[in-house]
Amino acid sequence: MYSEPTIDLTVHHKPVNLSDRFALGFTKLLRFCADTFFAKRYGHRAIVLETVAAVPGMVGATLNHLKCLRRMQDDRGWIRTLMEEAENERMHLMTFIEVAKPTLFERLVIVGVQWVFYIAFFLLYVVTPRTAHRIVGYFEEEAVISYSHYLAEIDEGRSPNVPAPEIAKRYWKLPDTATLRDVVLVVRADEAHHRDVNHAFSNELNGVAIDHQAIAPCPVHDESVCIQKLAA
Ligand SMILES: [Fe+2]
Ligand SMILES: [Fe+2]
Repeated sequence: MYSEPTIDLTVHHKPVNLSDRFALGFTKLLRFCADTFFAKRYGHRAIVLETVAAVPGMVGATLNHLKCLRRMQDDRGWIRTLMEEAENERMHLMTFIEVAKPTLFERLVIVGVQWVFYIAFFLLYVVTPRTAHRIVGYFEEEAVISYSHYLAEIDEGRSPNVPAPEIAKRYWKLPDTATLRDVVLVVRADEAHHRDVNHAFSNELNGVAIDHQAIAPCPVHDESVCIQKLAA
């Protein structure tokens, strides 16, 4: 039985060191750029930013995988969690591409930004993974805020509450009657989960004990939807 996800919308990690302050400052700068570029075009904003959001999980998974191979040690569940995050962000993208269509200029921005962001994030993760995870934690705090704004646009009638795309209904196990509003709610819950996971990973790298149960991969997704093309 489907029930609306309950999440804490107010979580904010207060910066405690230079690494955190850098991560927060960098995030606020990118937020300003995104607000300037997209204004209230939330569908387009979601598409472009989800192409970026799907990068850190795969970078983190790759580098942790290689580290565990080199050191012949257990990953404490990090790799699977980070891979699920990358896959989940890609499913956000596959969902919103059914709702809005990016312009040619946005497609060019996506290609350029992917080169720069992948290389920059990879190098940052090699040098300081705790800062890399903190940045993602702050990105996800902003994503929760952005999807709350998108929700308000729908609720106040400025964005049409169209039927949910088929792929979203299957991936999130939504009812047949689900709408875009339901999709934005579950996507926002995913972003809140990524927020908590990445802040927790950064905390653990800072030597703080964390609850591994709370940061396990999100159980509500139907992951078979992610490999449907392979299975078809
Ligand atoms: Fe996302
Ligand atoms: Fe996210």
